[in-house]
Amino acid sequence: MDGMFDPSRRNSGDGPGRALPRVDGLAKVTGSAPYAGDFALPDMLYGVVVSSRIARGRITGYDLDAALAVPGVERIYTCLDRPRMPASAHRWRDMVGPPGRPFRPLYDTRILYAGQPVALVIAREFEIARDAAARVGVRYEAEAHATKLERYLDQAYVPPKKREGIPPPAEPRGDAERAFAEADCRIVGEYVSPAEYHNPIELFGSLAWWEGGQLKVYDKTQGAAATAQYLASVFGLGVDEVQVTSPFVGGAFGSALRPQYQLFLAAMAARDLDAPVRVQLTRPQMFSFGYRPRTRQRVGIGTDASGSLRAITHDAIAGTSVFEDYQEAVVNWAGKLYACDNVRTGYELVKLNLYSPQDTRAPGAALGLYALEAAIDEMAHASGVDPVAFRLANDSDRDRDMDLPYTSKALRSALEQGAAAFGWNERSPTPRGTRDGHTLIGHGMASGVWDAMQMQASAVATLRADGRLEVGSATADMGTGMYTVMVQVAADTLGLPAARITARLGDSSLPMAPLAGGSWSAASVGAAVENATLALATKLHAIAARLPDSAFVGSRFDQVAFEDGELRLRAAPERAIRLEALLAASGDDAITATAKAAPDPASQKRWARNTHGAQFVEVGVDEELGVVQVRRVVAAIAAGRIINPLTARSQIIGGVVMGIGMALHEEAMLDDRLGRMVNRNLGEYHVPAHADIPPIEVIFVDEPDPEVNQLGVKGLGEIGIVGTAAAVANAIFNATGRRVRELPITLDKLI
Ligand code: MOS
Repeated sequence: MDGMFDPSRRNSGDGPGRALPRVDGLAKVTGSAPYAGDFALPDMLYGVVVSSRIARGRITGYDLDAALAVPGVERIYTCLDRPRMPASAHRWRDMVGPPGRPFRPLYDTRILYAGQPVALVIAREFEIARDAAARVGVRYEAEAHATKLERYLDQAYVPPKKREGIPPPAEPRGDAERAFAEADCRIVGEYVSPAEYHNPIELFGSLAWWEGGQLKVYDKTQGAAATAQYLASVFGLGVDEVQVTSPFVGGAFGSALRPQYQLFLAAMAARDLDAPVRVQLTRPQMFSFGYRPRTRQRVGIGTDASGSLRAITHDAIAGTSVFEDYQEAVVNWAGKLYACDNVRTGYELVKLNLYSPQDTRAPGAALGLYALEAAIDEMAHASGVDPVAFRLANDSDRDRDMDLPYTSKALRSALEQGAAAFGWNERSPTPRGTRDGHTLIGHGMASGVWDAMQMQASAVATLRADGRLEVGSATADMGTGMYTVMVQVAADTLGLPAARITARLGDSSLPMAPLAGGSWSAASVGAAVENATLALATKLHAIAARLPDSAFVGSRFDQVAFEDGELRLRAAPERAIRLEALLAASGDDAITATAKAAPDPASQKRWARNTHGAQFVEVGVDEELGVVQVRRVVAAIAAGRIINPLTARSQIIGGVVMGIGMALHEEAMLDDRLGRMVNRNLGEYHVPAHADIPPIEVIFVDEPDPEVNQLGVKGLGEIGIVGTAAAVANAIFNATGRRVRELPITLDKLI
């Protein structure tokens, strides 16, 4: 009853391991799942935001007459005319904000970036607000802006204050510069990646209203509890005076980890006007907050004559805003992934008149492993060693940075099984060695690594008289499958079919959960659900043990089992009692238990915890046109125990698709003269479409890991993207003999 993962325990056919179709699937595909922008209230008002055209300067005034003249306009808020708001940056902090001063919407006349909200138009109808917003005149005094990273590389600095939760680059080990100089074989590569925007299908929107002194909000968020805390802090309320609800999230990829400005604006206007207010952003406005930063990386690798790694240097420069030092783990992976005695890394920022970057699926790793794994491919090729063999030969069974063993690391199996499934050994190692008419065929691969984290989380489990179980936690499901994971964990503990279990999440009044990010939710919330259902099981057993003439009198918890909706004596399974009967005997309408789960601090100190992947990609490159088509992908993933093979596969496919977008399509295009991104819609900012995506085979290699956490799961949200862009780039090299070191690899770079 200590909650430890027992692989022999299989109390329900719907428990972990079963490919249960997602429990929220029907609601989603039939349109009955409500997203933040779907909620409506009587007499609701609509807010539309006006965005700054300039990237730096001051607002000198507004011309509002034309907008106010539109019938149906209720109010226009500007930075010169808005309710009081707290000045202290501290009050505006959110859970994952980097060091600096968080942005405050409409706070003052200073313009910090293009797209900054400069006015909020409130009207009786959305279309009226939109029309009026287009008529708002804003007078600016523009100042020279700095938006292009390459122009300010000489101003790069090491961030003075580390971002909480993000490990800084590891201390150097050995003497990388000297080992590099003395290496038998050396390569240096410089890699560039553009800013990318998350672009989830669901746009950001918030509906806020005040009810009996309580602030209520429907929001798009990866953490209802974190959002409630933010609002409480900004508006000077107790956390129990705010309720944030977010039952469904239409994709986020990190964009909804921080509260975005429409949330504050909706709550501000709702309080001021004493009415429900919905503020909905447009697709172009989705480019007015966080993004994956533009990065320039330099990787140097040296090997000895046998192909053993002797030196790795990895340096990165990334853009950030003028108001925050956004940081992520770009260069922190080489020293973990590979056995190499001489490693040195560097990570610097450049301040730009853009909004702060923000965590974007596998933040840091997606970028760092693009450059590192492209460079490893260059090294393997230069030394005449097969890229898979090179990685196997230089694999490390310890995290050399932390000097700790891994709880498990089945990267070798992933490399081997992925290569076998892909038919890697049949590829031509010589570039331009395979063609199909005028299409050059190439094969490339890369490794991936991500953290297997666990955060403290809580959950509640309630059994009702009709025998239905409800489990709840203030986590989020952005399409990750969290609803389904919660149901399956509960099904296992209490021996119930999934059809009798309801999961609730996305509500700040549920027991506390961390932000749904970092690939930690299955481990964190899953463990909390397991503990809550175990606590409930204990209560049910105690009821059974008190029943007169019960077979359970005097029995211990470890002598009973919960199976098929019954409590049974293990030694005599026919001595069983149905859970509904237990509830009836208790005299209560429902029995509830709450519990939390947290990582074991001793284990955290003793072991490194990571998930790994090996990506194999085949591309076809049109020799005359330079068009690249990814023809097939094999992703072999080592992520501990897989709770649901179906939703797990979807997670990996989603990551691979984003990796293909990173390699070939996605690029936020800056017009440095205007200081803003100019391709702010899905017509011009390209993400992969169906025709861009080939069959993707996902392999989960066996990786039993009772040490990593109580469920033995490592998380799958990010590992699918890590390494994918490098695998595509490496395949393009194999096809064409061209090393393109700047993403995305568009046809103009290949002809
Ligand atoms: Mo993920 S970028 O932690 O939502």
